[in-house]
Amino acid sequence: MDLAMWDVGYLVASILFIMGLKKLGHPRTAPTGNLYGATGMLVAVVVTIAQMNFGNVDNFILIIAGLSTGGIIGYVMAIRVQMTGMPEMVALFNGFGGAASALVAASEVFRRINSGEIPAGLELQVAWIAIGLSALVGWMTLTGSLLAMMKLKGGVEIFGTWYRTPTWGPEWLNYVKGIFLIGIVGLIYMTMEEPENSTYVIGIIALSCILGILFVLPIGGADMPVVVSLLNSLSGIAAAFTGFIIGNNVLIIAGSMVGAAGLILTNIMCKAMNRQLIDVLFKSFGGSDKEQVTRTKVGSDPEEVAMICDGISKCVIIPGYGMAVSQCQHQVREFADILEENGCEVKYGIHPVAGRMPGHMNVLLAEASVPYEKLIEMEEINSEMSDCDVALVVGANDTVNPAARTGEGPLAGMPIIDADKARVVVFVKRSLSVGYAGVDNDLFYDDKTMMLFGDGKKMMTELLSAMKES
Ligand code: TAP
Repeated sequence: MDLAMWDVGYLVASILFIMGLKKLGHPRTAPTGNLYGATGMLVAVVVTIAQMNFGNVDNFILIIAGLSTGGIIGYVMAIRVQMTGMPEMVALFNGFGGAASALVAASEVFRRINSGEIPAGLELQVAWIAIGLSALVGWMTLTGSLLAMMKLKGGVEIFGTWYRTPTWGPEWLNYVKGIFLIGIVGLIYMTMEEPENSTYVIGIIALSCILGILFVLPIGGADMPVVVSLLNSLSGIAAAFTGFIIGNNVLIIAGSMVGAAGLILTNIMCKAMNRQLIDVLFKSFGGSDKEQVTRTKVGSDPEEVAMICDGISKCVIIPGYGMAVSQCQHQVREFADILEENGCEVKYGIHPVAGRMPGHMNVLLAEASVPYEKLIEMEEINSEMSDCDVALVVGANDTVNPAARTGEGPLAGMPIIDADKARVVVFVKRSLSVGYAGVDNDLFYDDKTMMLFGDGKKMMTELLSAMKES
């Protein structure tokens, strides 16, 4: 194969990436999109290996060992991960993506320093700036993603849980971040002044690791979707920089696409949260300073709820994270089927950040064969909520919390699904406890609200039996 053949291989891989990304835009075509993307990656890997010098057997063995180890770990993780653990896994993979790019860039710079292959003039400046930026973005992505993963998981007890609070981030932390950033820029400049001195590169790596942690530390609660999609974008940008360093076109293309797609997603998430990215990154949204008042609410039973649902004409089901935890999407669908058989119109109100990852509810409901047309986006469903007889909120909390309409607390300003505008609101959850953002929900205590306390699957199963008997 001559050089043109490699380029054709990379071109095929890039086309598959672009087609895959296009198909990922709709839930129905998303599995095909995934397949295209994976095939594109396979083509890129095969072409890269085929391009190598087969005379160096050690290199070849190392690559096969790396591919098999990574492949086995990835396979086992994908098989074992629970649906509720997907967000943490996505965060971890973002971090691995950033680290992989940063490691390739680091090995290239150390190779050049050790072999004395140091360019001069403009070539040196371009190469060393790309190396510095790849290290900055790649290592920041790794440490930031690891922290995001722990925040999503809910903390590791040996470290305490202070770092998962959404609000820890005093004003002065922004100055510290600024000083670190200036320090890294200074070190990148020094790498160009003394390109053979690897200490500066090590300094960039160390400061970037700390900066990643400092950036993610103050973000939490309801703003986590924004930070996870931003880290996803950064992992792509790091790959694109590394592509420049090692002169690999497919890495530049794939990295730029991940970077751009991640930025689009970040923008969508910011809109969903009614936030400016700059505010998420540099302002710590104050925690709820509302006095914690201990209130109680008597729970309802499934028979009572079944009676209310008898003869209604419109029901909106609002799923949330608790549906993913209890895996009750099949029971939810069966409940909708019964209502529809009785002539009731049923729709699903989908909040863009419901659950713990973009599209979380869509995936679960698609698994239960809920027709896609019935999943209605927040803005549209809100225009219908005042005509709704029953809003059945299954394991959702923050995404229907009226506290978001006030100007205070971690949820302040986030658009919600107006469940409170329905005639009757039924919550299916285990207790009166708060959602991810940690904000108490006044809607639980409203007179028109019925609480079905218990695990989602158990309560939906009992509700189904009661509906069948009534
Ligand atoms: P949340 O506000 O997190 O509330 C979920 C509720 O589910 C909890 O209050 C919990 O109450 C209940 N629950 C847990 N396990 C349950 C079970 N087995 N059965 C029944 N209920 C159960 O959920 P949401 O309304 O979907 O909001 C999502 C939140 O996560 C937002 O704040 C969002 O910003 C954040 N977030 C989203 C993402 C993405 S991209 N979607 C990523 C990270 C964070 P009990 O304990 O009383 O049962």
